Order: sequence, then structure tokens, then C-alpha cells
Amino acid sequence: MDNSETDGFATVRSSLPTLPLPSNSERPTLTTTRLLIRPLQPTDLEAIYVLRTRPEVMKWTSAGCIDKDIEKTREVLNRFLPPNDTATLNYAICLKSTGELIGQGGCHLYRAKHGWPEVGYMLREEFWGQGLATEFLGAWLQFWGRLPRTEREIRVQKAMVTDEGRVPEQLIAIIEPSNGASQKVLLRSGFEPFREFTEADDKLVAFRFFPSK
Ligand SMILES: CC(C)(COP(=O)(O)OP(=O)(O)OC[C@H]1O[C@@H](n2cnc3c(N)ncnc32)[C@H](O)[C@@H]1OP(=O)(O)O)[C@@H](O)C(=O)NCCC(=O)NCCS
Repeated sequence: MDNSETDGFATVRSSLPTLPLPSNSERPTLTTTRLLIRPLQPTDLEAIYVLRTRPEVMKWTSAGCIDKDIEKTREVLNRFLPPNDTATLNYAICLKSTGELIGQGGCHLYRAKHGWPEVGYMLREEFWGQGLATEFLGAWLQFWGRLPRTEREIRVQKAMVTDEGRVPEQLIAIIEPSNGASQKVLLRSGFEPFREFTEADDKLVAFRFFPSK
């Protein structure tokens, strides 16, 4: 059963990053010890296609399968390029040493159907297990936390809030319970698991992060 359709929604007050978000041309490149986290650009199409045609990577994503052709990848990439860039905060994840694009990550849904912004990330599998996703998420969360905020009313799924009225801002990540690597990245980065649910026959776990805490 798709619980998301049947769960009730509540109107709450919270702060959220001010919309429009910084455009690709305004937002900074973030650097870490090993990574260059830069705005996506149209010329990333080929590299994103390589990433999104890796079955081992894509099976863990909400798509669940590889892109059928480069036009599908173009459609996905276009969600993060002008004029759509100010509604999301997704970045290219590149190696600092070579500039090679090895993944992408950030806020791909603002807001997601549960009502809160949602974060995700993916790396080509030859770069897994070196702490790179944790390095990416730490830098990205710092940037997300520093964005200007606006207090406003939002509709969120009741199961996705702790209280009624004014609630602390949340950032959500949704993964499969068997995604041990991603679970570890989230826990290490300050997220907590708080809800298990089923959607289109898939078991999922929602993790939340409180940017103001
Ligand atoms: C999730 C993903 C980004 C992690 O990337 P990564 O760079 O390997 O992550 P990190 O190295 O920072 O951390 C992963 C940790 O999980 C551990 N790990 C790997 N597989 C694991 C498993 N099955 N169970 C438990 N822990 C596991 C690693 O050993 C590592 O821990 P360590 O540093 O203590 O050794 C990568 O696996 C990926 O792209 N997966 C496909 C897409 C995806 O799942 N995205 C998340 C959905 S939003």
C-alpha cells in the first residue's frame, strides 16, 4: 500500500531556506579535502549518463533502474539546470585532484511529497568505501544550514512531524533499510531514523536532520 497517499497532512509553521534558492550561477563551489562540489552544468550530461547507467548505483535510488537512454538523463539533469535550478540544490561531486565528476548529490526535491526538503546522493561504485559520501554530505549540510531562512506555513505529512504548531525545520532522506552504506553516511552526518513505511511495495526508512540543532 502507498501510505503516503493515505497519511493525513497537517499545516505547521517552520523556517525553511528562502526561495528562490541561489541559482547555479550564484551558488558557490564547495571544497573539502578531496572533493570539489560544484554547480551542475549542461556539459555534465555524458558523465551523469555514465553514473545513471550503473545498475549497482541506480538500484538504490528512487528510480530503481538505470536510465533507458541519454534523453532520460537529459530530462533528469534539466531539473537541476536553469530555469529549474532555483527550486533545488543539487550539485556535481567531483574529485579535487582531477576535476572528474564521480557523483551528484544535494536537495533534489524542495519540497517532496511529504512536505519537507529531501536530500540524496550517489557516487560511481569504484569510488565507494573511501568516506567520500560522508565528506560530501558534511560540506553540503554546512552550506544548507547557512542559507537564509524564511518562516512560513507548510503542509507536511503528520507522520513526518514531531508536533503541531511551530516545529523545527527538517531535512529528510529516504532509503531502503538494506542500504547499509547510506545508513552509515546519514548516521555519521547527524541524521536520525524515525519512520519506517511501505511505498509501492518497497520498504523504506525516513531519516531526518534538524539544521537548527
Ligand atoms: C550511499 C553511497 C553514496 C555511499 O558512498 P561512500 O562514499 O561509499 O560512503 P562512505 O564511504 O562515506 O561511507 C559508507 C560507510 O558504510 C560502510 N558500508 C558499506 N556497505 C555497507 C553495508 N552493506 N552495511 C553497513 N555498512 C556498509 C562503509 O564501510 C563505510 O563505512 P566506514 O567508513 O566506516 O568503512 C554509495 O554507496 C552510493 O552511491 N550508493 C548508491 C546510491 C545510494 O544508495 N544513494 C543513497 C540513497 S539517498
